[in-house]
Amino acid sequence: METNKEYLYRSLHLDCARHFFPVSTVKKVIEGISYGNMNVLHWHLSDDHGWRIESKKYPKLHEVSGEYYTQEEIREVVDYAKERGIEVIPEIDMPGHNLALLSAYPEYSCKGEPVTPATARGVYRTILCAGQQCTLDFIEELLEEIIPLFDSQYFHIGGDEAPKDEWKKCPHCNAKMKELGLTSYEDLQGYFTGRVADILKKYGKTPICWNDALLASNIPEDVVIQYWTIDYAKEMVPFIEKQGKWIYSDMFELYLDYPHSMIPLKKVYEFEPHLYRYPIPDSHTADKENGLIGFEACCWTEHIETEKELCEHIFPRVYALAERASGIESKDYEAFKTRLREKIKLLEAAGIPYTPEEGWDPKGKERRDDAIQFYLNMGAGVDEEEKKKQAASAAPKLEFVLHFVKEFFKPQDFFALLKAALFGSK
Ligand code: ACM
Ligand code: ZN
Repeated sequence: METNKEYLYRSLHLDCARHFFPVSTVKKVIEGISYGNMNVLHWHLSDDHGWRIESKKYPKLHEVSGEYYTQEEIREVVDYAKERGIEVIPEIDMPGHNLALLSAYPEYSCKGEPVTPATARGVYRTILCAGQQCTLDFIEELLEEIIPLFDSQYFHIGGDEAPKDEWKKCPHCNAKMKELGLTSYEDLQGYFTGRVADILKKYGKTPICWNDALLASNIPEDVVIQYWTIDYAKEMVPFIEKQGKWIYSDMFELYLDYPHSMIPLKKVYEFEPHLYRYPIPDSHTADKENGLIGFEACCWTEHIETEKELCEHIFPRVYALAERASGIESKDYEAFKTRLREKIKLLEAAGIPYTPEEGWDPKGKERRDDAIQFYLNMGAGVDEEEKKKQAASAAPKLEFVLHFVKEFFKPQDFFALLKAALFGSK
């Protein structure tokens, strides 16, 4: 694969839905990534925990989870980013990850029953109903309001982690499948994605979806796919072969919400794009207009609450990705760290928090204890009943679990990890 080039898409994803961060913090993050020649902020603005954009048409949306950005603030952030060469791409995740929206407007789920925004990590089963025209009409009205706030070419529509439990029992969803001759619930998601993509295209926007969306056989070919999970790595191969455009965000290398004990700086610096067990069809990766258009580091915030924590997760790890995306090919880690110390001076001057050098590549017991503690915290706050429901519909595959352990832990962690998994940390 040719790598000696600047990629078109050099991005950080920032989740302001799980935890809300004020405009001043978002600006600090934008300022910081601009020091690394990055050109995109992918702004995750809706999720189970919160809806973060003021809606003048549907004010219940932003009222439901308390903290949100006014439309004026959104424009302020977009302008601030633009002055620094950064385009802000919004994400409105659908049909899953929508408990906040459905808390305000439960009529757009299959059962129409009341729900409340999430307060803990998870993949929740109540999602938008794809069988009712009123859901799509609502989404269209909403997108018509949101689209003009941003001037990016792309618009992210999520598509990840959408359990089909409720669709399977829904008369509207089943009737829609029959009407369209669809044979799988994944294809119903494909239909839904296609309709939302049509709305975006009317406004000249190109949709981006997470790679879960490739489970559908009928997803439009011009949707850009963001590769994050090995679960659907196989589906990437035919997509790339058909010249699909994609973004690389493998969660085991580029998810900066994981602590340094699980994804140390050196790992971010040394990653090479790959699709788990499947070779990347390389005929379409060399042209920067096609194939792999770039890289994105993601910072989810289920477990991150303060500006300091947020920035320490992002900086300076994000600069390792930024160099790669900018086409800097050096694999000399020590030389990279020397360049990084210059970036640290800029962060210092701007008052942007960062992880100091002693925390970049944790070792020994300190690494192991921190990684195990993080792993144990991942399930915190989900009640037992909800845990059972999630395990029934969205349990990780064994292959994923094994890969998770292999990527995030070391063989010598095995007994401590097993003990912690069985008995907790204390
Ligand atoms: C994702 O991490 N659910 C895209
Ligand atoms: Zn339905």
